[in-house]
Amino acid sequence: MKILLLGSGGREHALAWKIAQSAKVERLFIAPGNTGTALVGENVPIGVNDFDKLKEFVLSRHVEMVVVGPEDPLVRGIYDAFKYDPLTADIPVIGPSKRGAALEGSKDFAKGFMARHGIPTARYQTITSQTIEEGITFLENLKPPYVLKADGLCAGKGVLILPTLDKARKELREMLGGMFGKASASVVIEEFLSGIECSVFVLTDGRNYKILPEAKDYKRIGEQDTGLNTGGMGSVTPVPFATKDWMRKVEERIIRPTINGLSAEHIDYKGFIFFGLINVEGEPMVIEYNCRMGDPETESVMLRLKSDIVDLFEGVAEGNLDQRLIAFDERVVICVMLVSGGYPQVYKKGYPISGLDNVKGSIVFHSGTAFKNGEIVSNGGRVVAVSSYGKDKNEALRKSFEAVDQIEFIDKYYRRDIGQDL
Ligand code: AMP
Ligand code: GLY
Repeated sequence: MKILLLGSGGREHALAWKIAQSAKVERLFIAPGNTGTALVGENVPIGVNDFDKLKEFVLSRHVEMVVVGPEDPLVRGIYDAFKYDPLTADIPVIGPSKRGAALEGSKDFAKGFMARHGIPTARYQTITSQTIEEGITFLENLKPPYVLKADGLCAGKGVLILPTLDKARKELREMLGGMFGKASASVVIEEFLSGIECSVFVLTDGRNYKILPEAKDYKRIGEQDTGLNTGGMGSVTPVPFATKDWMRKVEERIIRPTINGLSAEHIDYKGFIFFGLINVEGEPMVIEYNCRMGDPETESVMLRLKSDIVDLFEGVAEGNLDQRLIAFDERVVICVMLVSGGYPQVYKKGYPISGLDNVKGSIVFHSGTAFKNGEIVSNGGRVVAVSSYGKDKNEALRKSFEAVDQIEFIDKYYRRDIGQDL
């Protein structure tokens, strides 16, 4: 089969790496891809939101399946663009319809969906500039800290957590006044939940589903979760508090009602659902939905998936995911992200990266690299992810550090405490 994967980050390198291992794959294209995906497939210089060019490519190269990595094209309706065009209607797109992607694209839609289906999540109210006074009253009845979320997509920056009522009132006015443009024309105010977070991933054909290995990601730049938020500094799977009993609660209270809710609301959903969960005194609650895999969780989760991912994707496309086998590697996997010094603020790009070929036993995924004048150079805040297996998290971390020591570039920085809080 010929497959086209969309995206250009570490997540897509990890997905491409896994897809390329399938005996069912004859050719793997990645649009636009990155230096890492070029090692396992063929990059195609088309942007993920250029639906017309993507369709043209798919038709001219007889691509038989499209797998979507990032949320943006999903929220913009790439699934529908293929499905409702007679020329591409038969080519499965692995990813939800535009309505399904609204689980990530609109916080208000996601909260309303959870309310309609009795899925445990924080209390909330959605406010616009017309209802700002109601918003202030709602805030006054909550305890600090205060959570404000822009309704629309903001590249991970649309959530503010504020220590005082004064700050919350002020930021609410600023968000509604256009702080995030149209994305914050509506703002969701939420009760703050306290607990440890866990990312649970499901692949669904809209009726059946398979639960993938869960993971925890590390968002802050500094060790012990200090400093600014980043796109993710590492991940670990499995998560010790996600016991059989906890995962049974997740499945009964969250996963099944979500899948059934999508089907009851006639929302076409054939793809990944990422449940951003929080463990509140032993009870799982939903912080957010995403309509795609997580980054950098994919860079650890893919190592634990023993099954052929393309076989699972075929199950999604054909609506018979229940007949496909899924198996996991029991080992721990830790992913450590190497970033450019200064990230997530000011940092330099273009530094040559050495030692990538010396890494043995760990897997390197490229996040932000480029190929220039015959060498691989840093080309982003997050540069490469190093993922390693271990019989426990200490061994996995030790192996990652051995690999990290092989890879050199100026101003290299990484966290040494991935998985250590669990
Ligand atoms: P989101 O984009 O909804 O995932 O929010 C970004 C981050 O903000 C989450 O990963 C949480 O760490 C935090 N967060 C969001 N909502 C809440 C909440 N209701 N209570 C506590 N933390 C939250
Ligand atoms: N790791 C969190 C995300 O991908 O949104």
